[in-house]
Amino acid sequence: MKALVVFYSRTGRTRIIAEAIARSLKADIEEVKEDDGRSGLLGFLRSGYEAVLGKLARIQPASKKPEEYDLVVVGSPVWVGRLSSPMRTYLTHHGGKIRKAAFFCTCIGGEGKIFREMEMLSGKPIAKLCVRDREIAAKEHTKKIQEFVKALQGELESMESARE
Ligand SMILES: Cc1cc2nc3c(=O)[nH]c(=O)nc-3n(C[C@H](O)[C@H](O)[C@H](O)COP(=O)(O)O)c2cc1C
Repeated sequence: MKALVVFYSRTGRTRIIAEAIARSLKADIEEVKEDDGRSGLLGFLRSGYEAVLGKLARIQPASKKPEEYDLVVVGSPVWVGRLSSPMRTYLTHHGGKIRKAAFFCTCIGGEGKIFREMEMLSGKPIAKLCVRDREIAAKEHTKKIQEFVKALQGELESMESARE
């Protein structure tokens, strides 16, 4: 069973979670990258504006093909209760090629509509995980990730035995 973790991260928190999930799942990893930066106040404001309006961003071409994976784990920060614009762009281009999806997000307060938006673009997920910034800061995210990965492994095993 082949798994891919695809993530976008503006300030590094989603990357921490993505790398931990990829390590545990022994999955390939793909970072959604942009040509333009989003640092500072202007970058913050632009991010919020794009998320509220559901706008797309200019992202670099993907290096991995999601259709070649049994499972694609998609991760994004929550922006104004919504999907980040770079990940919205990735899923708009590639979401339809994802065979089985799982989702995770990072946020301060809550997931908002992000999982519903991800689902519209890439199908129903087999598992979802939301990690808060304070959990990452206190290094309390490890247990949540272990449980998420265990749920994914269970799903993958039952998919594999259904195939045999
Ligand atoms: C423009 C913008 C809007 C945000 N809106 C929300 C929000 O509505 N709810 C929330 O809980 N966190 C919100 N956040 C916080 C991020 O989701 C959170 O800090 C996340 O961990 C950042 O991930 P990253 O470090 O991978 O970029 C927002 C952050 C940005 C930049």
